[in-house]
Amino acid sequence: MVTINNDSAPILTHSIEHLRQQVQQWHREGHKVAFVPTMGALHFGHLSLVELARQKADKTIASIFVNPAQFAPHEDLATYPRQEEDDLNKLAGAGCDSIYLPNSNEMYPGGFSTSINVDDLSSNLCGISRPHFFSGVATVVCKLLNQCTPDFAIFGEKDYQQLLVIMRMVRDLDIPVEIVSGAIVRESDGLAMSSRNAYLSDANRKIAGQLNTSLQSAISILCQGAAVKRTLHDTTQSLRDVGFDELDYLEIRSGTDLSLYGPGALSTRQLQDARIFAAVLIGKIRLIDNMKLKP
Ligand code: PAF
Repeated sequence: MVTINNDSAPILTHSIEHLRQQVQQWHREGHKVAFVPTMGALHFGHLSLVELARQKADKTIASIFVNPAQFAPHEDLATYPRQEEDDLNKLAGAGCDSIYLPNSNEMYPGGFSTSINVDDLSSNLCGISRPHFFSGVATVVCKLLNQCTPDFAIFGEKDYQQLLVIMRMVRDLDIPVEIVSGAIVRESDGLAMSSRNAYLSDANRKIAGQLNTSLQSAISILCQGAAVKRTLHDTTQSLRDVGFDELDYLEIRSGTDLSLYGPGALSTRQLQDARIFAAVLIGKIRLIDNMKLKP
């Protein structure tokens, strides 16, 4: 039995029907509704998205659902951090009006056989080492948006490729919602907040903080006109030197459509639009980060 220790406790919703009734009532009353989908294991990054939702709309709903469809069989679905009571208290404290905890049988009933692929934007970066991932995300986000029918849905820039995939899906499928992006929230050493940071040992946590330092230094060299290929080569070396075991990718791409930039120096137009994208491994723990070159 989960209890929420807060005076203005949010409404807990487990069924699609109950969620729809709630949102329809709010809409009838003239309220705008913002939705923050999550997989739980909440940190300040998620709570900053709830804050953004509260700024955009009158009513805020967050969901917690660890979506099996976005994990490959060898990935961490079984061990993904689950801390429901703590999450509910955090969402209550952040001022959520309602929390949706979907029932997995209702989300994926027997015979479920539909999936959404946003081909173009899913074919690079994380889409190469996690080929199942964006289809799993797009499918569940499409379902969540259909179930909730919010006016706004908020997603973090930490998963920047996911954000673009969702924006494209919403546009392509005419889903009537405005997607709003929230800035990455970082720890004091620059490490982007992530639920998976909880897996890091103290020693690995120190190494993880170096990712931000290395990316910042690559950005400053690129902004001085250095060639992309050479800069990324040197940054890869420095990431290995500080203790990262493997590099999945380190690339400069358009922040608009993820087209690849380089190998030479970036033009003024490219510099305005470019982001650096990295995925690194410390042991089996995979960390991703991205940053705009020009703020
Ligand atoms: O970013 C996440 O936490 C998940 O990918 C999302 C968007 C909640 C879909 O399961």
